[in-house]
Amino acid sequence: MIRNVLRVELGERSYPIIIGEGLLQQAATLLQEGGIAPAARLFVITDEHVALRYLPPLEDNLKSAGYSVHAYVIPAGEQSKSLSMYEKVMTAAIEAGLDRKSVILALGGGVVGDLAGFVAATYMRGIRFVQLPTTLLAHDSSVGGKVAINHPLGKNLIGAFHQPQMVLYDTAAIATLPERERAAGFAEVLKHGLIADEGFVAWLEQHASELWDLDSELLGKAIFRGCEVKANIVSADETEQGQRALLNLGHTFGHAFEALSEYSRLNHGEAISVGMCLAAKVAERMQLASAGVYARTRELLRRYHLPTAWPHWLDPEDVLEVMKRDKKAVGGKLALVLPRAIGRVELISDVDEALILTVMKEEAGA
Ligand SMILES: NC(=O)c1ccc[n+]([C@@H]2O[C@H](COP(=O)([O-])OP(=O)(O)OC[C@H]3O[C@@H](n4cnc5c(N)ncnc54)[C@H](O)[C@@H]3O)[C@@H](O)[C@H]2O)c1
Ligand SMILES: [Zn+2]
Repeated sequence: MIRNVLRVELGERSYPIIIGEGLLQQAATLLQEGGIAPAARLFVITDEHVALRYLPPLEDNLKSAGYSVHAYVIPAGEQSKSLSMYEKVMTAAIEAGLDRKSVILALGGGVVGDLAGFVAATYMRGIRFVQLPTTLLAHDSSVGGKVAINHPLGKNLIGAFHQPQMVLYDTAAIATLPERERAAGFAEVLKHGLIADEGFVAWLEQHASELWDLDSELLGKAIFRGCEVKANIVSADETEQGQRALLNLGHTFGHAFEALSEYSRLNHGEAISVGMCLAAKVAERMQLASAGVYARTRELLRRYHLPTAWPHWLDPEDVLEVMKRDKKAVGGKLALVLPRAIGRVELISDVDEALILTVMKEEAGA
């Protein structure tokens, strides 16, 4: 069996990301290898969709190795990243008798990872947690240690930096993900290529159809490289002072699209896909990027079934207003992450708002 191990280097908070097919069936062995002995009480947090398929075999595997396991199942979806759900999970954790040596297992996508991570960060001032991602997008959230819940006034406003003990990434789980979620996950993988590695982009272009069909070996490599790009940036900037901003390629546009749309119309990956196209077009207009960057970016995203056209229900003026709020623009200038080439981006602090608006209007009229 192919198993890839990536080490996220963060001094004494370093941890491994183990990627391979069928890892959930070997969870007990892998936890023990990672220094989590059966004496530690385990508390699995997962959502209803994931629980249906993956919770019983995981619990069986852990219990047969002598672990004591409790599980808490949350409703699927972003609305579970709430204060009220946080309180419910905390209550269940206290009732299950978790102590400072206990370990929380986050089995699921980014929603479960963010909530379970925040519970782990705050339960008795912080206990260990392990991520078991089941979505492709969670390759992004499994690196960096950002954990959070939402407040009614905004997303991810209540959170912490809390690194997992280890990440066990079973690539087999991706197969049951709905297609739209699969594409959305690929959007972040492609983003990691577009930010930092032209060779990776070329490889993603070459293997697009096998990757879309979830060829296990290639998928493992794509997740590995996506995590690695993010890990390199995070290691250099754990608490987001500078470089980490580069991870926001396409996100200033994307967040504005999300804020102005119903989630069912546009999910996060779809929003940043269109956002990355717009960033490339703006960069070409500024002659920051050479001609061809936009076309290649768009074609890459299309191959992974992602949208690249302007969301027709949105007004460019409204989008610009939200972008300005997001980035606290000063004097008609906006900070944006823009490509210089495929695989190379830069944070440009003084992009002309009028140019952004012109490009968006062209796209909207096209
Ligand atoms: N902490 C970070 O650095 C970071 C980074 C990126 C995103 N996020 C957060 O991640 C969240 C989005 O994550 P997501 O896209 O993984 O969403 P998600 O966790 O909501 O999962 C998407 C859907 O797929 C279902 N699902 C999950 N795994 C499945 C599987 N293997 N088979 C079938 N269905 C499955 C879930 O039940 C859910 O309905 C957002 O809240 C975002 O803020 C955090
Ligand atoms: Zn994102």
